[in-house]
Amino acid sequence: MLKTRLVREMIEPLAVMEGAGVRLRRSIATRRLDYLDPFLLFDHFGSADPADYLAGFPMHPHRGIETVTYMLAGQVHHADSLGNSGDLYAGDVQWMTSGRGIMHEEMPRPVDGKMEGFQLWVNLPARLKMTRPRYQEVRAASIPAVAQDGALVRVVAGQVGETRGPVREIAADPVYLDIRLPAGTTFTQAVSRGHAAFVYVFEGSGVIGSTGVAATRMLILDDGDQVQVSAGPQGIRFLLVSGAPLGEPIARYGPFVMNTREEIEQALRDLRNGTFVAPTD
Ligand code: FE2
Repeated sequence: MLKTRLVREMIEPLAVMEGAGVRLRRSIATRRLDYLDPFLLFDHFGSADPADYLAGFPMHPHRGIETVTYMLAGQVHHADSLGNSGDLYAGDVQWMTSGRGIMHEEMPRPVDGKMEGFQLWVNLPARLKMTRPRYQEVRAASIPAVAQDGALVRVVAGQVGETRGPVREIAADPVYLDIRLPAGTTFTQAVSRGHAAFVYVFEGSGVIGSTGVAATRMLILDDGDQVQVSAGPQGIRFLLVSGAPLGEPIARYGPFVMNTREEIEQALRDLRNGTFVAPTD
């Protein structure tokens, strides 16, 4: 018999300041929830006031992780030490595997006065922490939208019915869905047993498992085979994210997440010596 996952914990996002002075709402990487293996961080950015984000995230390094940026509105310009640059707009996703090292900047800009999105950090297993950096950048038009049980689901990663998302070959075997449910509908989605899973409600209200919730909240789910969400009177919009836990030790220092203290010290030495980004990348 299939077990429906229930809410284990409801988290009110914490207001934090990050980068060169960006106000955002953080639900993972806080004192309350440091790590939801394999997820290291979850930020919700965006504001009606550009002063809250225009300073952006100037050049900074990453090693040992993946960063996933998903845009709802506005623009983020990015440029990196490998010569890549581009812009993300509403509905676009960038799944960036930092591997052994990347230096990049991420600069948000308003479009029609709006800017909003999410950044998720996914841990890499020890065997891939020093892999070659990689980008999977997917335009909004290339992300499939599936209509199911009255829901409209944008499938970034994972599978809904027969539809697979465009982001693939990620170690954590992730599911990343943006789901919109009109009032009076219920949506059920399979989630692999044993995988960590959360729902992030950012519009409307509803019931998840047996727990009532209104935006904006993160819900950490217990184990099981499926997730069930019913929309409230104004409908509900949420992300459903899951991934396979790594079960490895973590050593964390800002944008570096490795397995040991020594590997963190090596990252700092590489940064000081100018050998952080491999010339062959
Ligand atoms: Fe970054």
